[in-house]
Amino acid sequence: MVDQNLAIIILAAGEGTRMKSRLPKVLHNLAGVPMLGHVLATAKLLEPVATLTVVRHERDLVARTINEISPETIVIDQDEIPGTGRAVEIAIESLPEGFGGEVLVISADVPLLDFNTLAELVSAHRSAAGSATLLSAVLENATGYGRIIRSSDGLVDRIVEQKDASPAELEVTEINTGSYVFSISALRTELPKITTSNNQGEKYLTDVIGLLRKDSEKVVALEVSDVGVVSGVNDRVQLAEAAARMNAKIIRRHQLAGVTIVDPLSTWIDFDVVIAEDVEILPGTQLKGATKIERGAIIGPDTTLTDCEIGENAIVKRTDGTLAVIGKGATVGPFAYLRPNTILGDEGKIGTFVETKNSNIGFGSKVPHLSYIGDTEVGVKSNIGAGTITANYDGVEKHHTKVGSHVRSGSHNVFAAPVTIGDGAYTGAGTVVRKDVPPGALAISVAPQRNMEGWVEQKRPGTAAAKAAEQANAQHENPHNK
Ligand code: UD1
Ligand code: CA
Repeated sequence: MVDQNLAIIILAAGEGTRMKSRLPKVLHNLAGVPMLGHVLATAKLLEPVATLTVVRHERDLVARTINEISPETIVIDQDEIPGTGRAVEIAIESLPEGFGGEVLVISADVPLLDFNTLAELVSAHRSAAGSATLLSAVLENATGYGRIIRSSDGLVDRIVEQKDASPAELEVTEINTGSYVFSISALRTELPKITTSNNQGEKYLTDVIGLLRKDSEKVVALEVSDVGVVSGVNDRVQLAEAAARMNAKIIRRHQLAGVTIVDPLSTWIDFDVVIAEDVEILPGTQLKGATKIERGAIIGPDTTLTDCEIGENAIVKRTDGTLAVIGKGATVGPFAYLRPNTILGDEGKIGTFVETKNSNIGFGSKVPHLSYIGDTEVGVKSNIGAGTITANYDGVEKHHTKVGSHVRSGSHNVFAAPVTIGDGAYTGAGTVVRKDVPPGALAISVAPQRNMEGWVEQKRPGTAAAKAAEQANAQHENPHNK
């Protein structure tokens, strides 16, 4: 149910200079989703009456992502005055008419903050009935964070930023996580008073806390129990740390839902991947994008699947796949490369050192070894011989190959597309199939083999090969001569 008294402001306007990146910080990926996407998704779970996201740096790119992920979110443009305080000051102008409730402010660069922590923060604020409740954490290494300065009575007095802190203040290990709930009236009163007179020349949102205390308003700090959820991402070291935490969380979710993950540390699973019960994931596996794996499948070791669908009880071993659909009970790999629009039917096989692309390989059909199959359709229960190449490219255009059902093609064939091999046809080893093969025919394109007897002994006399041949021939002529 929508909480009519809760609005959420997400801060995403900063440049993220410490990332040293062309991509805005809040669009850097964590488990296949931009950081900002995680925060938007968590915000949605709180069912606020409105979510406002403040943008400025790479405004259009960030706004586009917001519209894709969470179209109901209101995009707010920050002006040239920098700072988190300015961001909130501008955002509250766009709150729904007559809004009189609480505002939860969170940052797009704190992507692990979860629903439970934020729901607890909101309810702590409501039961304390103060003007502001901030989420604090005690960190072993507080470097980079704003420190919470308490007065002698133990109450929160103000927040001092790392860059403005005295040596004594830098010793404080209690930090501001950047997540707060404010009563809207408190923001309306205090934000206009904030100045940019600090070492960063910014309007700090954190200054609201000190101002509220000066006005004898009640400010409460709620200490987070799991400090992992409040880690901010400011540089790529922290990005990797956050990614590892997010991954551990995702893996645990799947394990508790019945997925065997043999080695959580070498397994990376994107946020939106769907895995059924009794799937087994072997070490060194990455499951990315919108990959979906059905019950009983075994994936890995050393497999990367992006946007793939893997059917029940399929086995995919040492494979790299993108946008491939693998049927029930099918097997893939080891060392297969599945390119987009590969479709393998139930009980089919794409074997060792096989590359496939834009091909539909039917029920029970097999491409077991050393092949390239592109722009091809294979019927049911056909077997493609080892070392078969579909020559789909004539240097100008791509062409299609059609292989019927129950075909048995020989080893080391070239299917020079466009070409069709009829149902039940065979091809001989080494055939270059340039013309269509009618159903049930045997196609052979190679010249008949000619043996020039005695060639080695004549042309390479005295070699080891000649001696071996001589010996074999003598034995053949007189088998008792041992
Ligand atoms: C901020 C807090 C700090 C806290 C830390 C927690 C302030 C002044 N400081 O510091 O006390 O410990 O978060 O992670 O708030 N942003 C805007 N507009 C701006 C500037 C920033 O929207 O003008 C956004 C950024 O995109 C980012 C968030 O606000 O998502 C925080 O900004 P950042 O510059 O990373 O603040 P910190 O220095 O980390
Ligand atoms: Ca930050």
